[in-house]
Formats: sequence, structure tokens, C-alpha cells
Amino acid sequence: MTHLVLLVDDADRPLARFRCAPGQTVLDAAVAAGVVMPAGCRHGACRTCTARLRAGRIHMPDGTAMTPELLADHLVLPCVTTVSSDAAFQVDPDGGPLTPELVRPWTD
Ligand code: FES
Repeated sequence: MTHLVLLVDDADRPLARFRCAPGQTVLDAAVAAGVVMPAGCRHGACRTCTARLRAGRIHMPDGTAMTPELLADHLVLPCVTTVSSDAAFQVDPDGGPLTPELVRPWTD
């Protein structure tokens, strides 16, 4: 069973919607639907794809570049995130990552 994924801006205005299959990452589902999301490494290391979980249940593996502080702010990495319910993610409408500049791995 697929789940509906909604991308919203910082005011919760809808930007895109697509279906995500079991085991499929949010980024792969977006690409398959023709939705452009920022991406770099595609394996949880660069934080380029960072988005904020606004609703829904997800799974993100351990061992990514996310810090406890970023996770506590509900920031996730769509390139390694799968969903187990309908879900909504806040993204930058200009196509950039939501990761604060000063905590990107290459500037830590
Ligand atoms: S694309 Fe690098 S962490 Fe997602």
C-alpha cells in the first residue's frame, strides 16, 4: 500500500504531492513523480536533502549525518527516509536544504 506524501512550505502551503511505496525513500518517490527535491549524496551523508517532518510516521536509519539537535527539530533526510503512513514534509520552496548553514557537515 502506498502512502501520500505532501511537501509544504514554511506556512504549510502545499507545494507538491506524490505517492510513496513501502520501502521506497521519499526522495526516490519524489523523483519518480517528477517532483524536484534537493539531493546530493543520496545516502544520508551530506544533508543536502534536509526537510522537516510535519506529520506522519517515518523511518530513518541510524548512522546518517543528522545530529541529535537536528533530529530534535524534526529535521530528516528524505534520501534515506521511508514512510509508514501518509506524511507531510516542510521543504524550502526555492529548492535548498533546510539544514542551517552553520551545521552543515562541511562547515562543522
Ligand atoms: S542527499 Fe545527501 S543526505 Fe540526502
